[in-house]
Amino acid sequence: MDKLVIEGGRPLSGTISIHGAKNAALPILAASLLAEGKVRLHNVPRLLDIEVMLGILNRLGCKAVFEGDCVTVDSSQADSFHIPEELMGQMRSSIFLMGPLLARFGEVCVYQPGGCAIGERKIDLHLRGLEALGAVIEESDRRIYCRASKLVGADIHLDYPSVGATENIMMAAVLAEGATTITNAAREPEIQDLQNFLNEMGASIIGAGTDTITIKGVAQLSPCEYRVIPDRIVAGTVMIAAAVTRGNVTITECNPGHLVSLIHVLRRAGIQMQVSNDIINVSGLIRPKAVERIVTSPYPAFPTDLQSQVMVLLALANGVSIMKETVFEGRFKHVDELVRMGADITVDLHSAIIRGVPRLYGATVEATDLRAGAALVIAGLAAKGKTVVEQVHHIDRGYDQIEVLFSQLGAVIHREAPVLRQLDPA
Ligand code: UD1
Repeated sequence: MDKLVIEGGRPLSGTISIHGAKNAALPILAASLLAEGKVRLHNVPRLLDIEVMLGILNRLGCKAVFEGDCVTVDSSQADSFHIPEELMGQMRSSIFLMGPLLARFGEVCVYQPGGCAIGERKIDLHLRGLEALGAVIEESDRRIYCRASKLVGADIHLDYPSVGATENIMMAAVLAEGATTITNAAREPEIQDLQNFLNEMGASIIGAGTDTITIKGVAQLSPCEYRVIPDRIVAGTVMIAAAVTRGNVTITECNPGHLVSLIHVLRRAGIQMQVSNDIINVSGLIRPKAVERIVTSPYPAFPTDLQSQVMVLLALANGVSIMKETVFEGRFKHVDELVRMGADITVDLHSAIIRGVPRLYGATVEATDLRAGAALVIAGLAAKGKTVVEQVHHIDRGYDQIEVLFSQLGAVIHREAPVLRQLDPA
C-alpha cells in the first residue's frame, strides 16, 4: 500500500483550482444510464471511486471512457441489470445504480453494500422509496432483487434527509408515470447538480436545494453534455490546510456559496478570508481561536465530510472546542491518530472535546477512511518534523493525487509505493 511522507511546518502559499465533485459525478454517471446514447461529462475528477463506477458501467454493457477530465458514457448497448457482489463491495455508491437500472430495465439485482469504517450506513430509505414507486423487493441473504413492470409516481416522505436515498428516488422517478414528490429531501448542492443534469436530458424536476422535490415523469430522456460542479469538500480541505499551516492560499473555480458553514466556522476561529464569486482567499497568519461547539448535520449545516479536517484546526487552536458528530456514528477514527501526533482530544460518545495545543509533531499514522486520511495529511503539513500517512488508498477515493495538490502550494510531500521484493532467479 502507498504511503505519503510529509515534512511539515511550512506555510502553504499560492493559487489553486479545484477538481470536479466526486459526490456529484457519481450519481450523474449512474444517471447517464437513463438515456440511451452518448452522454459527455466534463470536470470529472480522476479518483478511485470514479474508476470503480466506470468499471461497473462497463460491466453493465456501457462504454464508459475517460479522456482528460471528460468522461463519455455510451449506454446504448447496456444489457445487464445485475451488479456483481465483488463490485458492490468496492464502493458503497454503487447503490446509486438501483434507481436508474430499475427505471431502464424494470429490474435490478444488487448486494447489500454493508457497513464501512464510518458507520453502519443503512439503505432502508432507498428501498422504501423505490417500493413507494411500485417496486417489489425480494431480499435473500445479501442479495437484493427489485422489479417493477411499471413505476408510478408517489408522495414520498424521508424520515431522514439522506443524500443517496434522495438521489436514487429522483433517478427512479424521472421515467415513472405521473408525479413524485419527495419531502424532507436532502438539500446538498450535489442534488441540485443531479437535477440540472437530469433536466438537461429532458427530465422535469423542480425543488432540488429545498426540502421538497417534485419530479414529473417523462416518456424518455436524451443524452446531453454536462459540466460537474467543483468539489466543495476538496476546496474546504485546502482552506483548512492553508489556515493550519499559517499560509496564504487562493482557491479559484470554486463555489463559496456551497461552503457557507465552513467559512462561518473559520471566521469564528479568527481566520482571515476574502470571498468573491468563485474565488476564496484564506490567510491563516495567527493561531486559530477555539470554536465552542460545532455540530455536523445535513446541508446547509456543517458537513460531516469536513469534520475530521476542521478537528485538526481545533487541535491547534487556543482554547477548548467541542465537535458533535450526528451523521455517522463511526467518524472519530482519526482522533487516536491525531493524539499520537500530540493533540489533546477525548471522545465522549458522539462528541469530541478538543483542548488546543500549540504544536503537533510528526508521526507514522494510518488513514482509516477517506476524510480521516485527509485530516492526517493536513495535520502532517502543520506538524513539526516528518509524518508518514499509511493506507493512502482511502484518500485516493476522493482526492486526485493529494500530494500533487499540496506540492503545488509549496508543501514538502511525496508518495512512496511499496518496494516489491525481487524473486531470487535461482
Ligand atoms: C453522502 C456522501 C457522503 C456524505 C454523506 C452525508 C456521496 C457519494 N456520499 O453519502 O460523502 O458523508 O452523504 O453528507 O454523495 N441512512 C439511513 N438509511 C438510508 C440511508 C441513509 O439510515 O437508507 C443514514 C446513514 O446511515 C447515515 C445518514 O443517514 O447515518 C446519512 O446518510 P446519507 O445522507 O444517505 O449519506 P450517503 O448518501 O451515503
